[in-house]
Formats: sequence, structure tokens, C-alpha cells
Amino acid sequence: MAATTSSSLHPHHRARLRSRAGPLLAVVVVSVLALTGLLRASRRDGAAADLAPLSAARAREASNRTIAQRKILLDPAFTPRLPRHSALSLSLASRNALPPRNAARFPRLPDGHLKVVLYVHNRPRYLRLVVDSLSRVDGISEALLIVSHDGYFPEMDEIVQGISFCQVKQIFAPYSPHLFPDAFPGVSPGDCRDKDKATEKRCRGDPDQYGNHRSPRIVSLKHHWWWMMNTVWDGLEETRDFDGHILFIEEDHYIFPNAYRDAQLLVDLKPKKCPQCYAVNLAPSDVKARGEGWESLIAEKMGNIGYAFNRTVWRKIHAKAKQFCTFDEYNWDITMWATVYPSFGAPVYSLRGPRRSAAHFGKCGLHQGQDSSNVCVDNGVGAVELDAIDKVPNIKADWPVHIIRKQQGYQAGFKGWGGWGDRRDQELCLSFAYMYHVKDPSPT
Ligand SMILES: *[C@@H]1O[C@H](CO)[C@@H](O)[C@H](O)[C@H]1NC(C)=O
Ligand SMILES: *[C@@H]1O[C@H](CO)[C@@H](O)[C@H](O)[C@H]1NC(C)=O
Repeated sequence: MAATTSSSLHPHHRARLRSRAGPLLAVVVVSVLALTGLLRASRRDGAAADLAPLSAARAREASNRTIAQRKILLDPAFTPRLPRHSALSLSLASRNALPPRNAARFPRLPDGHLKVVLYVHNRPRYLRLVVDSLSRVDGISEALLIVSHDGYFPEMDEIVQGISFCQVKQIFAPYSPHLFPDAFPGVSPGDCRDKDKATEKRCRGDPDQYGNHRSPRIVSLKHHWWWMMNTVWDGLEETRDFDGHILFIEEDHYIFPNAYRDAQLLVDLKPKKCPQCYAVNLAPSDVKARGEGWESLIAEKMGNIGYAFNRTVWRKIHAKAKQFCTFDEYNWDITMWATVYPSFGAPVYSLRGPRRSAAHFGKCGLHQGQDSSNVCVDNGVGAVELDAIDKVPNIKADWPVHIIRKQQGYQAGFKGWGGWGDRRDQELCLSFAYMYHVKDPSPT
């Protein structure tokens, strides 16, 4: 399946898919700094909170603050619309409302805990490894783990149902192209394919900047990430009023035993050590790097392995929904590096330790490995060697911060690899940004 998909792609896409499997590249966030913007955003949060009487219950206050935040940035000229549900998508949407499992065993999530969001597609061997690595993470029992699925795959579901080491909630992107075999966001009859000319073929669709029409398997990546972000921050009861940091990991990220405690340390140190940092990272932005091993914290461009940020940062990202959704690039991370972060007006740094506490082990391109006999599925274990120092918190509060200012990779001015030219994808993406803020964007 993967082979068919990639062979129908523009050469750029193919190159990108291949390279995705390896180092997730040296990517860049461009120039930039953003403290002022951040401060502005948090001041706005503060102002919203001030609307509530001082004596108001904290929860009410939080909910008022959230409502006030939600008023920000909705373009009245845009009418959000979501696809008509299928029986499957509807049943998954109702599962999304189920409370977390294991709540009786782990009844209290302490102050200062992180929520952990693991986003997955369909690589069960990988997921087993990641879950196994998570089971050995010190502190994980304090976290709420949310697993977000792109599509429905029974084996993936089963693996998550077997998790017993923390509270766990599953969510399924109900508008995943994988759930719609014969309608948008899948392929509808009458859709253009490849380099079809819409007027000659009388087919439907807008080609990307390279003349290619949409491919559901390719667009699903960016749709899933954006749906998940909106859902976790603004949709789910368990997280929509959460004030702390949410840590995002992927189905091919091996998580070291010290990852959770290190992430908490970084979150605590960030305001003082690196006020211009937007996030914390569990690994260098160069996905192959293990870290410098220095006695120093490091601030560099945001990476995409184990990144955690708070609601203030989410609001800034959400405010750029239009840029995110209209940029002709099907990778969410390149979209962020090339359009969203540069638009913040200052470099988007992330704070991390000098040794990684998560590692990318996947060798397959995205969307491969559906077939468990697929040769691209390595067992991953050999890829990650843990030293004793990776098993205990290994970040020191008295370390200085080394800032890496100049880095290679994608940045403002990059035109995108395409794959995201269809107006329907752009509108669905924008609708995800509105769906928890307007009354009912479903078709009537
Ligand atoms: C929430 O906001 C509403 C209207 O803005 C206000 O009337 C109400 O008192 C607030 N409630 C609390 C608990 O802050
Ligand atoms: C969230 O993180 C940003 C970036 O580190 C920081 O400026 C902001 O104050 C934080 N917001 C809250 C509410 O803690």
C-alpha cells in the first residue's frame, strides 16, 4: 500500500518520504524570537482571568478564562464545516468521550504532573516497543497518557487496552481519511488523481503547486496532528482546562526511563533559565544526535521528538491556524518551521538536556509497515542503547544554558513539498481550529 502511495507521488514527495524515515532532518525554525509575543499572550490570559471575581472557584475561573481565550481569533467570514459522519466515525467519536481507564488504580494526578500525548497510525510493532519503554519510565504513573489514533486498527487498539501502568485514554481522529473509503476526507468518486487536469477530465480537486492532486494517505498526517492538537487543548474534558505542559511523543519514539522526570525538571527550569524558550524537548532537533554530553542545558530550535509546551504557546499556534492550514506542505512539522514559528517574530527556542531521553527508532517511511511482514519494520531494540545515566534524572539546576542560534533546515521562505493544495483539505483543517469554539460545525 505504501509503495503504491509513494509511487504516485511527485518526486519531491518521494524524496521526502524517504528522508523522513531517516534523520528527520535538520530543520530550522528560522530566525526569530518571541518573547514579546509570549508576554503579550500571557498578559491576555491574565486579563481574561481578571474578569472573574477573585473569590470564584478555581475551576469556574479556569473555565471562564478558557471561554475568554476562545473568543480570540475566530474569523467571522469563515464557516467551519465537518464531514458527514459514517457509522464507524460516529462510534469512534463516542469512544472519545469515555473517561480514562485505570483511574481507580491511579486516582490522583499530582500537581505538576504532565499529560502525555502519544500519536500513532498503524505500526503495531513500534507501538509495542514504545509502550514497553513507557512502562519503565519513572513517574509515568502520575501522568495521564492520551493515545491519539489516525484511523482505526484493532491491533493498535488492543495494545493500548493492555496498558496498566498509568491512566490512559484513547482518542480516534473521527475525520481521518483512513475512515472514509469512498467519501471526503477519503477519496470520493469523481476526484482528480495525480496530475489530472480538472477541466479536461471533469474531475474535482485543486492541484498543489507541483500539479499533483491530493492523496488521502498523505494528507492524513497533517490532519491528524492538527485535529489532535485542537482536541487535546480545547476539546477534551480531561485536558481543556489543564494549565501545565503537555508532552507529545510519536509511535516510533523510544522513551528513556528518565524522560518524565527530566521533562519536569526542564519545565521547572525554563522560566528562569530560558525565558525566551517556548518549549522543552526530550531530544536534540537533529533526530540522529544523542546530545553533546556537556554539563550544560541547551536551547535550540524546536525539535519534534518529545516536545512539551503549555497553553500560552498553544494559543499562539492556534492563532496561526490560517497559515498552518493553507500552506502547501503536507508535513505538519515542516509547516510549523516554514510558516508558523517564523510568524512569531522571534526565534522559537526549546530547552533540553545535554543527553537525549527519547530516541527516534523508526526506519520505515510514514505509512509503511501496515503489513507486519514488511521488511522495513526493524525490531527497534538494537537502535537504542541505554547507559546507566539515562535511567535517572540527569539534568542539574545549576547548569548554564548554551544557546545554539544558527541551525540548518527548513525555514521561512521554503515553499513546501506540496501535497496540500486541495481547498477541501485546507477548509477541513481550518474547521478543526473552529470546531470547539463555534456552536455546531456539523452538516445539517
Ligand atoms: C464567568 O463569566 C461570567 C460572564 O463573563 C460571569 O458572569 C461569571 O460571574 C463568571 N464566573 C466565575 C465563577 O468567574
Ligand atoms: C507558558 O510557557 C511560556 C513559554 O515558556 C511562558 O512564557 C508562559 O509564561 C507560560 N504560561 C503559563 C501560563 O505558565
